[in-house]
Amino acid sequence: MGSVIAMTGKGGVGKTTLSALAVDWLVRRGETPILAVDADSNANLHWALGVRYQETVGGIRESARRQAQALKGIAKQEFLELRVQEALVEQQGYDLIVMGRPEGQGCYCFANNVLRDVLDRLARNYRHIVIDSEAGLEHVSRRTLLCLDHLVIVSDCTVRGIRTAARLSALADEVGLGARSRGLIVNRVPEGGPPPAVRSEAQASGLPLLAAIPLDEHVAALDGDGIPLAGMPRNAPARVAFEEALTKLFPEQERN
Ligand SMILES: Nc1ncnc2c1ncn2[C@@H]1O[C@H](COP(=O)(O)OP(=O)(O)OP(=O)(O)O)[C@@H](O)[C@H]1O
Ligand SMILES: [Mg+2]
Repeated sequence: MGSVIAMTGKGGVGKTTLSALAVDWLVRRGETPILAVDADSNANLHWALGVRYQETVGGIRESARRQAQALKGIAKQEFLELRVQEALVEQQGYDLIVMGRPEGQGCYCFANNVLRDVLDRLARNYRHIVIDSEAGLEHVSRRTLLCLDHLVIVSDCTVRGIRTAARLSALADEVGLGARSRGLIVNRVPEGGPPPAVRSEAQASGLPLLAAIPLDEHVAALDGDGIPLAGMPRNAPARVAFEEALTKLFPEQERN
């Protein structure tokens, strides 16, 4: 298997945008199949990708809990496996799975244990996995249940934003979120590049700077018109800057 990459960061920094662009880039490079995971309980990666979904893993978990009495052991395993397969949105080169809402009250242990198995097995079918996560980090460690290769922390282009990114990174250490690589992406950088104060804060964070992605009117324009990000011009500055970073994260030798 190739790599599992997760986009994290505080709210509104560009996680979903970059996740969708990463999926599109990997598909174009032929590094398929890709699994796109929408791990934000307020699902919206599907908009950025331009697809629809019917079912979420959270919904499946809920119905498994409700039918706990009726379904036993292996039957339940098979039931969940089938339901997760049905929840997969199949696209050219990639599939999307939407995690949906976290569990409510009641006992979900059995459903969760089985689901963990099902999702682990599912993950093995893919070359790469791209996870768009909810703001904050707790979610990533708790819900995706996967071993990460690249933890990308996205920040806006402010000193406070970078400090938050550094805090998220420290939190990743605390929860034992091991990742082969960890790096910072500063997004929505104004013309002229990140201001000196932001640069030095980024340096102080100790996080390698993967990319400084320009503020790009193409992103906002597509979003405004509800057009999937794959439709962004190839030479759009944000896309070019991000794809440069992706080339470093996914070197050619990983192709085989
Ligand atoms: N490089 C960019 N240039 C211009 N606008 C951008 C850029 N990156 C993201 N945006 C815009 O910023 C907003 C937030 O982006 P996005 O939804 O990807 O963030 P997010 O981190 O996923 O947010 P949330 O925490 O709510 O899930 C969107 O309106 C998006 O169009
Ligand atoms: Mg998002």
